[in-house]
Amino acid sequence: MKNYLPKQYKKTTKLKINHNYLFEQFADYSKIFKEIEKVVKRGDYTLGQKVNEFEKKFAKRTGAKFVISVGNGTDALFLSLKALNIGKDDEVITVPYTFISTVGSIVTAGAKPVFVDINEDYNIDVKKIKSAITKKTKAIMPVHWAGRPCELDKIKTIAKKYNLKIIQDASQTIDSRFKNKQLVSFGDVCTYSMHPLKNLNIWGDGGFVATNNKKLADKLYLLRNHGLIDRNNSKIFAYNSRLDTIQAVVANYKLKNKLSNITKKRIKNAHLFDKVFRNNPNVKTVKRFRYLKEVYHLYHINVKKRDQLQQYLIKNGVDAKVHYPIPIHLQPAAKYLKSLQKINNDENNHKLALFILQEGRNKQQLGDFIAARAKFEKALEVDSQMAATYYFIADTYVQESESYYQKAQTINNDEDPEYEKLIDSAKNSLSKAIPMWIRYTELNPNQAWMVIHLLKDGLFALDRYSEFEDIFLRIS
Ligand SMILES: Cc1ncc(COP(=O)(O)O)c(C=O)c1O
Repeated sequence: MKNYLPKQYKKTTKLKINHNYLFEQFADYSKIFKEIEKVVKRGDYTLGQKVNEFEKKFAKRTGAKFVISVGNGTDALFLSLKALNIGKDDEVITVPYTFISTVGSIVTAGAKPVFVDINEDYNIDVKKIKSAITKKTKAIMPVHWAGRPCELDKIKTIAKKYNLKIIQDASQTIDSRFKNKQLVSFGDVCTYSMHPLKNLNIWGDGGFVATNNKKLADKLYLLRNHGLIDRNNSKIFAYNSRLDTIQAVVANYKLKNKLSNITKKRIKNAHLFDKVFRNNPNVKTVKRFRYLKEVYHLYHINVKKRDQLQQYLIKNGVDAKVHYPIPIHLQPAAKYLKSLQKINNDENNHKLALFILQEGRNKQQLGDFIAARAKFEKALEVDSQMAATYYFIADTYVQESESYYQKAQTINNDEDPEYEKLIDSAKNSLSKAIPMWIRYTELNPNQAWMVIHLLKDGLFALDRYSEFEDIFLRIS
């Protein structure tokens, strides 16, 4: 299989607003090069001074007693599970609306993910956690989606009652707070990613675990570095998942010079969007609460006709992405978990549209996005008129078909050529209604139920019933 290179890494300069702007984001590389030169001159390539510095600084930033840097955010999750001895025959509660690696880490650690549905804010629905707990449950892995903390006090209460560990996937949530407290104070471990598209971004992969538990920290230091306690002695068999020293240099620079501004700008941009969409009945945004400090890794809008809006925005120069179009419980990899799926597949979840809000976007660009979306609303009005027209045309063909059929009944002799002619005409008219109903649902997918039974009966009358399944799958 070929290496998969995400399209977002190719420069798409034709768009007015890109999904990412990595070239601008990393334009200050020459300052970082100077720091890297020092590392090379010292020959300090694995762990070492810069990684130590990173761990100290990030412990301070995340309010943790210990930070253990690792190769990436996925390893931060995986090694946390290992450090907590979670594996074979254990279950871990999490959500299916997240990046694949939340669930991947549970599976690769040997445990079973148990899915709990999300709320309207796209975070775990705490009310549904209890019913997912079994004798095998060992941990809850809440994902602070898009930079918004989950209901951590409630999760902590449940975890305490059922003696469960809390592994917070905070990959998207650096700098956020829950009731003015650092996230790490609510659970056993808190994991972070520094992938180039995260709020805290470096030049490749990197991640870390924050914890207040010394025993866990000590185990994590071993797990990430072959179990070595010194050059020649290994206490446990383990992994190699060290934060690359060069990336530690980048992260230290970003922390000192960028992160606070990135957080501030994302919050400011998100507030502007909130203001614009607040009274718009066609755009649903997440309800905000003062006790949550959100850092807006992503900004969501929830709209009808999400996919059409996305296409429309792209056509109008605005790159918008869905995070993610296929939830994890519906991924081919999750087929074997069928009996553990407790998800409603509710409309709200599937219609969610997301737009990455990068701190580098200026007012003009945000304005372009808002204007393009508003234009789409106008276009939708035209669409619904078109849809109504298709429905009307289909209806006309059906009536025409029925009148031929009734005339044929008056002859009441199926060997009479005139009878055959009328029945052919009836079928001919009815067959013209079929594509009209399909077009209607393409423009108006939420109303597909209105024509499904018409399509079904029509195809049956035309002896074309075998086409129904295909059409149904296409439009439903
Ligand atoms: C919610 C979530 N969990 C886990 C990860 C994994 O992080 P990484 O790509 O650094 O392995 C990411 C980011 O990609 C993420 O967004």
